[in-house]
Amino acid sequence: MAIQLFEGKEHASYYQKFRFEPTQEITDLLFSYVDERLHKPYGFAVDVGCGTGQNTRILSQYVNKVLGIDISEAQIEEAKKATGSPNVTYSVCPAEEVPVGDASVDLLTACAAAHWFNIEKFLKEIDRVLKPGGSLAIFTYFPNIEIHYKDRSEQMTEVFSEVMNILASYHHEKIINMKTAYNEMYEAIPYPDKRRIENVGTQIRVPLSSVMGLFPSFSAFQIYLKTDPEKAKEMLRTAEERFLRIMGTSSTETEVEVWLQYLVILASKPQ
Ligand SMILES: C[S@@+](CC[C@H](N)C(=O)[O-])C[C@H]1O[C@@H](n2cnc3c(N)ncnc32)[C@H](O)[C@@H]1O
Repeated sequence: MAIQLFEGKEHASYYQKFRFEPTQEITDLLFSYVDERLHKPYGFAVDVGCGTGQNTRILSQYVNKVLGIDISEAQIEEAKKATGSPNVTYSVCPAEEVPVGDASVDLLTACAAAHWFNIEKFLKEIDRVLKPGGSLAIFTYFPNIEIHYKDRSEQMTEVFSEVMNILASYHHEKIINMKTAYNEMYEAIPYPDKRRIENVGTQIRVPLSSVMGLFPSFSAFQIYLKTDPEKAKEMLRTAEERFLRIMGTSSTETEVEVWLQYLVILASKPQ
């Protein structure tokens, strides 16, 4: 049965506002692989588990037509509101049943999402929908995020990690796929042309308010909020106070640097 932890409207609204888009380095890595294998212009891409469209919108700058699919109606609703790209459409449906014809897709991506899928069914579906020679990109960032600020990065990261450690007790068992760096999925990809690139570091500058908004975008936080609303809210209040104290500012609009580690799996269906 599919895991549906991104269904709440408020959750989706946080997701849309605060989840990061893949950075340029990640997009460049992906398209340098694709460039070597596909002819431009790229025709059709599907972004699976697209959430509120962070990666989908980026793909639309490189590919003629993009379809974003997600099992959550609330996420797709937010994605539709946010899109400014005429070549993007969205659909509510599972990763294991992509609503397109056989051998019709040039590029299939899943960003920060594939750990939730049924691996066997998803890989079968990829094989059905990809054109011969089509590319696959499965990538994600990890919860071991660092927060950098002046000479106080260690203390900032400690506060962030403490929150993530509390949330870890509310993680769904599927998070194991992240902890094992998608090993099961990578091994099961049936294509000889495949590679897994680990520890791709990338950085984003955002105001502290965006770091605070990131927490409620995590499914584990939403479970904590349902289980113990007062404690969940208190955790956020305390974390914000601690961040501000460490930074020596009263403004949550002060910028920090968020350091993310990505795992990128790239593969190509044989011709
Ligand atoms: C962490 S979000 C990632 C969203 C977006 N790709 C991003 O980069 O931020 C994971 C998404 O996968 C979706 N999802 C989980 N299981 C799914 C499934 N079996 N089929 C389709 N989408 C699924 C969730 O609804 C959620 O929107």
